[in-house]
Amino acid sequence: MSKSIPLGLIDRYRDRLPVADDTPAVTLGEGNTPLIPLQRLGHPCQVYVKFEGLNPTGSFKDRGMTMAVTRAAELGAKAVICASTGNTSAAAAAYAARAGMQAFVLIPEGKIARGKLAQAVMHGAKILQIRGNFDDGMSLVKAVAEQLPVTLVNSVNPYRLQGQKTAAFEIVEALGQAPDVHCLPVGNAGNITAHWIGYSEAAGQATAATSFRDERSKHAPAAMTDRRPVMVGYQATGSAPFMRGAPVAQPDTVATAIRIGNPQSWDAAHVVQRESAGWFDELTDEEILATQARLAREEGVFCEPASAASLAGALRDIESGRIAAGSTVVCTLTGHGLKDPDIAAEHVAGASQTIDATLGAVEQALGASLDA
Ligand code: F0G
Repeated sequence: MSKSIPLGLIDRYRDRLPVADDTPAVTLGEGNTPLIPLQRLGHPCQVYVKFEGLNPTGSFKDRGMTMAVTRAAELGAKAVICASTGNTSAAAAAYAARAGMQAFVLIPEGKIARGKLAQAVMHGAKILQIRGNFDDGMSLVKAVAEQLPVTLVNSVNPYRLQGQKTAAFEIVEALGQAPDVHCLPVGNAGNITAHWIGYSEAAGQATAATSFRDERSKHAPAAMTDRRPVMVGYQATGSAPFMRGAPVAQPDTVATAIRIGNPQSWDAAHVVQRESAGWFDELTDEEILATQARLAREEGVFCEPASAASLAGALRDIESGRIAAGSTVVCTLTGHGLKDPDIAAEHVAGASQTIDATLGAVEQALGASLDA
């Protein structure tokens, strides 16, 4: 037996999560991601990015998956199942492997980023590519989980949001209080809901965004802040049901992670919007990709396309004044840029040149750049 050292967010926040004192955590050391202040982008506000791409499988899903798989293991589950645009399947596959369970993942054929598929493959998930989109997959896994002995680990599993709420705790701890505004990319709207639950608990305030409690839920843990932020959710124009006011039948966007037309947390997201006095907005694929590139070049942070929607929206709303000058703004960067190498590959031709392997050729190439 290895020595028991604290690892991951269940150990860190056991007093704020629905786990028993002795529940063994299925963990890969998720959470505790950096809150990075931007130095060049976002004036006249102070913008921070919460880089969730630095979780063990490269996305925020690990926060939810450690809780969902820990609970599944506690109840003796042998298998988990999810539908996914990629990141959930990567996290489910990894945490199931960790717990010695089988993962089944349904993904839209040809529409998930290559890195995410690689993860599901390497962690030994049974991968079913469906001739349909994420929303079709979601209906299927819900039906299957009712009939077969497999635990559903999409964010309709309440333990997922319980794990994901811890990101709000970390932000409050880092800043000493809640930010003025928190911006996230929105697909199913599970994560924006989870953050609102976390901020509400951190502030000791009630929210109607969830009714979840189980026998291990903690009663009134100490408040960490006296306020909650305005919550802003950004979608891709081709997949923006919250802007259309209704599900979108054929969602489409280059940001495949948020290519979702029928959000599972539809009602909760509207509660979050109302209670926080926040809003939803949409960005074109061009705006999303331009911000992804700017963040990588000007700040040194490489996130996946969907993640850049939060910053793209925030920068636009700061510029227009919708987010007031001087505000403290946190943007969640939900996943790492390495998840989706094909996006960067499209830039490679312009970014590289082929030369002879001689000192002269290298000096000539550098000289041209240094003179410029
Ligand atoms: N950003 C990334 C990188 C995601 O993978 C997702 C969701 C979101 C944002 C949206 O979060 O759904 O809670 O509003 N990805 C899911 C998946 C659907 O299957 O990996 P949400």
